[in-house]
Amino acid sequence: MRVAVYPGSFDPITNGHLNIIRRASKLYDRLIVGVLDNINKKPLFSAIERKEMIDELIKDLPNVSCDVFSGLLVDFAKQNGASVIVKGLRTVADFEYEFQMALLNKALDPEYETMFMMTDSKYSYISSSMVKEVAKYKGELEGLAPFNVIKRIKDKI
Ligand code: PNS
Repeated sequence: MRVAVYPGSFDPITNGHLNIIRRASKLYDRLIVGVLDNINKKPLFSAIERKEMIDELIKDLPNVSCDVFSGLLVDFAKQNGASVIVKGLRTVADFEYEFQMALLNKALDPEYETMFMMTDSKYSYISSSMVKEVAKYKGELEGLAPFNVIKRIKDKI
């Protein structure tokens, strides 16, 4: 069975992330979306809130689940029986950081392969930070984030 993890902060999940989840779910028997609960960051949404939003969006994808994790990604992958880490790449600007993380994860545990998927071009300019920035100044969020996320952001800000 091919099991993959798709990790991230997802603060909040964007249409770009959702596009990667949908496409990756077709390539693996099981896909686990890993929401990082990073104690060093001050997120807009708690890890539980971020997971709730993702759970609402993956309801129609039977082989996809979502869990919160803290600590090392390779440990989370191991706990879930995954052998692949899925990451999305938007632009060349993402590459350097992602390349470093992929090599670091490989050094931590050579069992893991990182598989990169190019983000659909129509989402390549979207990031969680941009979504939060637009929300802060009351800009139009439609097209950037899923509807349940837009509602939660509006409730929060
Ligand atoms: O959405 P993000 O914030 O770019 O995701 C980054 C994430 C969660 C994939 C990365 O920070 C991570 O894997 N953190 C877990 C800690 C870890 O394993 N660090 C070593 C590899 S970078």
